[in-house]
Amino acid sequence: MTYELARRVAGARGSIIRDLLKLASEPGMISFGGGAPEPAAYPVDLIADITARAFLEQPKTLLAYGISEGYPPFVNSLKSYLEKTEGFDFSENELLILSGGQQCADITAKMFVNEGDTIAVERPSFVGCMNAFRSYGAKLVDIPLEDDGVNLDKLEEAFRTQNVRLFYLISTFQNPSGVTTSDKKRKAIYELAKHYNVIIFEDNPYGELRYSGQKIPAIKSYDEAGLVVYTGSFSKTLAPGMRVGFLVYNKALHQQFKILKQGMDVHSSTLYQLVCHEFLTQHDYPGHLKQLIARYSVKADKMAAMMDKYFHPSITWRKPEGGFFIMAFLPEGMDSLPFVQEAIRRKVITVPGYAFLADSSQTSNGIRLNFSLPDMDQIERGIKILGELSHEWLCQPKAV
Ligand SMILES: Cc1ncc(COP(=O)(O)O)c(C=O)c1O
Repeated sequence: MTYELARRVAGARGSIIRDLLKLASEPGMISFGGGAPEPAAYPVDLIADITARAFLEQPKTLLAYGISEGYPPFVNSLKSYLEKTEGFDFSENELLILSGGQQCADITAKMFVNEGDTIAVERPSFVGCMNAFRSYGAKLVDIPLEDDGVNLDKLEEAFRTQNVRLFYLISTFQNPSGVTTSDKKRKAIYELAKHYNVIIFEDNPYGELRYSGQKIPAIKSYDEAGLVVYTGSFSKTLAPGMRVGFLVYNKALHQQFKILKQGMDVHSSTLYQLVCHEFLTQHDYPGHLKQLIARYSVKADKMAAMMDKYFHPSITWRKPEGGFFIMAFLPEGMDSLPFVQEAIRRKVITVPGYAFLADSSQTSNGIRLNFSLPDMDQIERGIKILGELSHEWLCQPKAV
């Protein structure tokens, strides 16, 4: 059989990160390649208690079809939580529960993007969402990311010249760079998007995992014009296997978003929405976040201290104020892929920066390092190996 696939499939690419994850299970490998929470941080006992009790008390609610906008008690408790923590205004906005942040990206592209439309993304950006955008035939244009967010001149140029429909940004503790967009740049981005009539898709799965510095308000919190679609997820704070994420958008979009959700998977798992609801209402979710912050900030500190100690001084990087990642950069113009390949031969996995580019045939000098998954000893040993390699590499640059 010769299969004639739809054009949207032809543009889809596998993720190098998934391939690296397979390597990570080989004996003796130290992986800084992942992007998940540490399994020891899943609140397993509480989730087991909540689900056991729920099955005793309301099995039919859990097992029946639910409604597409989400399990109603959870929709309400999440709205209250977001009013309090993010300052969102639910007299103007609505909330839709979806199957993880990934489905939020997929449905947002489905909602706004026609084949051939342009989506602006940060350079670098999260490959999973870029793949979702590609699957709708979007053309991606990337805007260089600086230490405090995208370059505003380049963003304006793209808005002015490329008929951009949507701008995708991960505003806080970005994946892969760890960068947080400053308050000043967020406001400037909002004004530009308003001026050029561009939807902002603000992705914030790591924002609650802040280890230092001050929280910066989400762009959605001052979105009077209704142009921001905001997404969050419980994947990084509770457990990714539950697949619970959410979108917040202007009320005018609610009916159409609900219809799209119905066409995708009818609704997200009621059981896991109930788990999140119970966390928000019956358990100490802020206390749980505090524990996560304590757990991950120690690892971030350790990785940064080891990088300081072992890395060649011409490798640049910044310690992030939260999230799961540090991005290190080889000197300008150097391709990080051969370095990453040699590190894998020495049993340390990292992700080469090209994987996070809108055009992954380009090269990048970036290397993404994850600190949430490895333990302290692995961080120490793995960074030492990378550091030794960096000194060899930068004394004698290797040919590809
Ligand atoms: C920036 C970003 N957005 C969205 C997601 C998707 O997360 P999930 O679908 O597990 O909620 C991830 C996961 O790594 C991410 O890093």
